[in-house]
Amino acid sequence: MRGLLIKNAKAIYGLRPAGQNTVNGRAMAELPAIHDAWLTAEDGLITAFGPMADLPGITDWSGLTVIDATGRFVLPGWCDPHTHSIFAAPREEEFVDKINGLSYQEIAARGGGILNSAMKLRAMAEEELFAKAKARVEAMMHQGTVALEIKSGYGLSLDSELKMLRIAKRLKEVLPVRMKTTLLAAHALPPEFKADRTAYLDLICEQLIPQVAKEELADYVDVFCETNYFTVPEMERVLVAGAAHGLRGKVHVNQFTSIGGIQAAVKHGALSVDHLEVMEPADIEALAGSGTIPTLLPSCSFFLRIPYGPARQLMERDLPVALATDHNPGTTPSGNMNFVLSLACIQMRMLPEEAINAMTMNSAAAMEVSDELGSITVGKRASLIITKEVPSLAYLPYAFGSDHIDTVLIDGTPVRSGSVLA
Ligand code: NIG
Ligand code: FE
Repeated sequence: MRGLLIKNAKAIYGLRPAGQNTVNGRAMAELPAIHDAWLTAEDGLITAFGPMADLPGITDWSGLTVIDATGRFVLPGWCDPHTHSIFAAPREEEFVDKINGLSYQEIAARGGGILNSAMKLRAMAEEELFAKAKARVEAMMHQGTVALEIKSGYGLSLDSELKMLRIAKRLKEVLPVRMKTTLLAAHALPPEFKADRTAYLDLICEQLIPQVAKEELADYVDVFCETNYFTVPEMERVLVAGAAHGLRGKVHVNQFTSIGGIQAAVKHGALSVDHLEVMEPADIEALAGSGTIPTLLPSCSFFLRIPYGPARQLMERDLPVALATDHNPGTTPSGNMNFVLSLACIQMRMLPEEAINAMTMNSAAAMEVSDELGSITVGKRASLIITKEVPSLAYLPYAFGSDHIDTVLIDGTPVRSGSVLA
């Protein structure tokens, strides 16, 4: 599809000037819109938009796809800057263990958790893993996700971490969704290294990072900095090694305990700090004005019954809060950003406008694609959501669990064709 005209939209939300890369805390309550609006795109990029009263006369209709969006909203597509969508198998048996009273940490101590997923991933052929991950990402696109980050972290060996990142690279090549990739070898200590943690850190810093950089398999480096996983000094070592090879940090911190990971991540210029369920006042203080983006994962809190990240406090400090799914088999078996939107509003008391800014503009910034996605801006990708006929913007998070999306476009081309294209 070359040219695209969307007309009669009830509103187009998320208008931003070119050059703006984040929406900071207090400004997040506003989601600039035009009501009764049109938008055009060409060659996958937004070319113009405005109120219907000013719709320019079109002389050449050839090759133009026209969408009548009467009664519907147009939004920038969701950006999901934190997923672990490549994995071998779900872990619903642990889900039942959790219902019976075991905690995430108790399950991990019994050999479940990340190590369980690692054993299954190592055993599975690349082709099968690729097909499973592809189907998951396609399902996410259907739910409005137009950009996502994918991590390794279930290989935990040189070969299997590279296998995961090569699968991610293939996904990037075959799917239209915008993707970034992250090396998360420091996700858990593999059993082979139980007696010698330093040797595993050596493998990550001296072999994996250089190899990944050489093959251009990742954009970022991640560490699960947490009690019983990796210490702050270990994370710092990985961040320094990553930086030496052009891989910036995007790290798991403060999921269960506050051990100083945020301060260290900020010191090393991490792009984002993710999770943040357990936050001390000093942790919030360290983030204020830092340039490191706090990324909250409310579906993980929901699934594990752990605290929700302090979205309001972070926004009060004028931080550009971002939202992501954390899609993974252990703590978030859902890649649905629409559910994240509902949880952000219901459980973290974000306004619908704040949550939508967090899952478009700020989540695009948390994967460094806000110059091409995250808002309605001339020159950005026409990667858009067209809703069903819904009464208001607030209805989207309010009527949780229902599907409010009609059509999803990526680079101007439908990846989900609803009734507006029928
Ligand atoms: O972000 N907490 C660390 N990593 C994942 C969970 C991984 C798993 O349990 O398989 C997360 O929640
Ligand atoms: Fe995660």
